[in-house]
Amino acid sequence: MKPTILVTGGAGYIGSHAVLALQQQGYRVVVLDNLSGGHKDLVEQVLDVEFVVGDTRDRPLLDQLFRDYAIDAVMHFAAYIAVGESVEQPGKYYENNVGGTLTLLEAMVAAGIKQLVFSSTCAIYGPPDEVPIPESHPKRPISPYARSKWMVEQILEDFDTAFGLKSVCFRYFNAAGADPQGRLGEDHYPETHLIPLIIQAALGHRDSIYIFGTDYDTPDGTCIRDYIHILDIAQAHLRGLEYLLQGGQSDAFNLGNGQGFSVRDVIERAEAVTGKSIHVIEQPRRAGDPPVLVGTGDRAKQVLGWSPAYADLQQILTHAWVWHQQRHGKLEPDDSRENLQNEATLAVSPH
Ligand SMILES: NC(=O)c1ccc[n+]([C@@H]2O[C@H](COP(=O)([O-])OP(=O)(O)OC[C@H]3O[C@@H](n4cnc5c(N)ncnc54)[C@H](O)[C@@H]3O)[C@@H](O)[C@H]2O)c1
Repeated sequence: MKPTILVTGGAGYIGSHAVLALQQQGYRVVVLDNLSGGHKDLVEQVLDVEFVVGDTRDRPLLDQLFRDYAIDAVMHFAAYIAVGESVEQPGKYYENNVGGTLTLLEAMVAAGIKQLVFSSTCAIYGPPDEVPIPESHPKRPISPYARSKWMVEQILEDFDTAFGLKSVCFRYFNAAGADPQGRLGEDHYPETHLIPLIIQAALGHRDSIYIFGTDYDTPDGTCIRDYIHILDIAQAHLRGLEYLLQGGQSDAFNLGNGQGFSVRDVIERAEAVTGKSIHVIEQPRRAGDPPVLVGTGDRAKQVLGWSPAYADLQQILTHAWVWHQQRHGKLEPDDSRENLQNEATLAVSPH
């Protein structure tokens, strides 16, 4: 029988796609999610899993889960994810992202569970010295969110040294797209990611989007980012898990396509995919947004045998568009998302 995997944050955007991929490979999956950002309906209607509503900071609950379900390994997605909020409320981020992970690791050690796949981020590098960014690049995170992820990577090294707990850390570039069949997709609230924001504008749920900075040293003056399809991230997680289950050593891998698209590129391509024109408001640069963030997945390809199947931005946008139309094509009159009409935001910082 295939191992049983605990997926923390499995009701969220990336976690839910990983759960689907695990299920498709015959793994038994237990989802632990406190629903601070995830979606109960998606877990219950789309995923065929044991679903526990609970928190990674709840040690007795973790001990019970590890006992009751005989968990073999963990995929750990649960975290708060908003970079801007982390600057305003750093304690909230360290407490959940670092504190919650520490509680999880202690419980894993006590239960004798020795394999963990962790969601890290390219934001741990900070403003890059070189692009594409290699894994060996210095780590200079500039937000509490990104620092919380780098802290966890370092804690994981210590847990390997002390207890032999092996981990694979994936440093995602910009996660994007959706399940091609439209069953799952990105649904953050508040939304800070470029592609869903553009699509909200295309659907008429917001009037416009801001571009922060049009005078960068890039071909069209706007920031360049590397977009990686959510299914390719999910597949990398399967590879990372298999690598660990086969006795692989702890390691960290970038997940990027090695190809960057400017904000204007993405908007233009989204206009072509959706058939809608997007109203854009140009704003000055924001502090902390590097002009170019691109990373290769070469090490993940070499070591894990991973290979992205959906590197084409057109496909990423099409899958996201199909999902969003299905999920939010029509807003109910009392939907709190109505207030998006009056907001105009756009984030190009990685998280
Ligand atoms: N989306 C991206 O582009 C991106 C980029 C880099 C890294 N990441 C990382 O990937 C992971 C998943 O991101 P996402 O975009 O799917 O976010 P998400 O908010 O959709 O998913 C996170 C899930 O974790 C749950 N959660 C939060 N704290 C919890 C806790 N203490 N106990 C149990 N559940 C908890 C939330 O309810 C949510 O369902 C996060 O760790 C994030 O930092 C995401």
